[in-house]
Amino acid sequence: MTWVVLGKNGQLGQELIYLLRSQGKKVVGTDREEIDFTKPEEIYDKLEKLEPKFLVNCGAYTQVDKAEEEPEISNLINGIAPGAIAKFALENYVSFVHISTDYVFDGNSKIAYKEEDQTNPQSVYGKSKLLGEQEVIERNPTAYILRTAWVYGEHGNNFPKVISKKLRNNESLNVVNDQIGSPTWTFDLASAIIEVLEKQPNPGIYNVTNNEHCSWFEFAQEIAKTLEIDSTLVSPTDSKSFIRPAPRPSYSVLSNKKWKDAGLTPLQSWQDAWKKAAQTVLINS
Ligand SMILES: NC(=O)c1ccc[n+]([C@@H]2O[C@H](COP(=O)([O-])OP(=O)(O)OC[C@H]3O[C@@H](n4cnc5c(N)ncnc54)[C@H](OP(=O)(O)O)[C@@H]3O)[C@@H](O)[C@H]2O)c1
Repeated sequence: MTWVVLGKNGQLGQELIYLLRSQGKKVVGTDREEIDFTKPEEIYDKLEKLEPKFLVNCGAYTQVDKAEEEPEISNLINGIAPGAIAKFALENYVSFVHISTDYVFDGNSKIAYKEEDQTNPQSVYGKSKLLGEQEVIERNPTAYILRTAWVYGEHGNNFPKVISKKLRNNESLNVVNDQIGSPTWTFDLASAIIEVLEKQPNPGIYNVTNNEHCSWFEFAQEIAKTLEIDSTLVSPTDSKSFIRPAPRPSYSVLSNKKWKDAGLTPLQSWQDAWKKAAQTVLINS
């Protein structure tokens, strides 16, 4: 019963592999040297050799701003490659999870996005991830697509690590308070991936984030509190004063109702997750 995790060096890939191994499962992880998503035509044969029973795609082109200059490569990695992986999974009776994002929405909603809400990505990254969802669904109606948001954890670089580094250097910082979302801990997300593959609810798209929501500013304040650093070092600003090449959705909250209604375990609130995650996240920053 081999689990294959694509994107083994990413934030989520590392966490998932660690968790699966801690549960005594047989896991093979691959990086871009072993399975390169820019060569989708090679993916099928390479996966066949690994003989997975469960397959999780944690690999992606995640440099949101750089993607604006590299739409072709972004589409290849986030769009076409997931389709090739999904095809392999269907034809070989392999249970498959693909990870997607809140960036498939435009962020103009005022209420939590449901799975069936109209997508309208505003960035090259978001468009490429939506293409990935469409390719996966078209090629594999048995696949699970888990849409998540604001991912952080022990591994890789992420928002709490960047903020904590600056705070520890006594730097004051401006953080946007007009982008709202649900910080999601890789450990909870990895647990959710394992649960969905083991319980096998109806296939399709599921939103999976930690519960409750906040602004990046509020998250940064919480990080300062954990570090016992004066939270007045963190000041609120708005997205207009912080222009970046790729637009960010201003409202990224995803409804987790479908997940719960399918009998899957709801993820804890982001505040509870952060309390548990902080030590491991901050020790490496
Ligand atoms: N981070 C977030 O806030 C967030 C939010 C919503 C959804 N997501 C989604 O969640 C998933 C996991 O994200 P993450 O934060 O764990 O990403 P990450 O840390 O950036 O990891 C992505 C992985 O993809 C690999 N990769 C990149 N190009 C590749 C290629 N050509 N061939 C094979 N592998 C390649 C990278 O390999 P290298 O290490 O060699 O570069 C890296 O290990 C992704 O699908 C992402 O879109 C993330």
